[in-house]
Amino acid sequence: MIYTFKLARRLIWGASFCALTACNGNSALPRSDKPANNAIAETAKASPYKPTATFQEIMDSVVDPSSDFIWGSVTTISNSTGIHEKRPHTDTEWHEIRRRAMMLAEAANLIAVPGRRVALGNKTVEIADPLKVMEIQQRIDTNYDQLVGFAGALREISLDLLAAADRKDVTAIIQLGGTLDAVCESCHKVFWYPEDARNTERK
Ligand code: HEC
Repeated sequence: MIYTFKLARRLIWGASFCALTACNGNSALPRSDKPANNAIAETAKASPYKPTATFQEIMDSVVDPSSDFIWGSVTTISNSTGIHEKRPHTDTEWHEIRRRAMMLAEAANLIAVPGRRVALGNKTVEIADPLKVMEIQQRIDTNYDQLVGFAGALREISLDLLAAADRKDVTAIIQLGGTLDAVCESCHKVFWYPEDARNTERK
């Protein structure tokens, strides 16, 4: 499950990545840090929250490492030396999973803070294609409620993972890990790479 997701991401990045210098050199491109939607801009102005990180940075700093940790905590690897199962055993190991689930649950709030930009100008993490970033930003600005809905789904599944960690329930962590992957994908398919969603529907 981890590998499918990672592979899909690599393919997307491979297709959309452009060399930083080439992207930066195009001054005719609009900047993605200007709010495209007045209603959202007004809500953001009135909000006490001041988003500092971009969406890409929240994903890169909080969401991705936390979910990777959870997925990686319960694995089964089969190779020439046999089948190797990795499972959390000690209280400390279970507590580490709980910590990551808590970070994911709170990341849902970070995602929902109004006025957060996908990327700031040329400050991108992985996607250095300003046109793609602008498109993603536009989708967020016009479907903000839907974004918040997906963030809610992330919170729910994270709280389930947290409860499973408290119960020390390996089977639940494996099952919920699969659902977590689906939640990531469902939001990405709407906001990040909807072309993929359309391709899947056609099949
Ligand atoms: C509520 C919507 C939403 C959810 C849920 C979500 N993401 Fe994202 N994610 C985004 C958006 C929007 C982007 C911005 C795409 C871009 O420009 O990189 C993004 C980008 C990313 C990136 C690329 C960041 C970069 O370096 O550019 C990674 C990695 C990522 N998400 C991982 C995850 C994982 C793992 C999960 C689930 C545990 C997840 N995301 C859940 C909306 C979401």
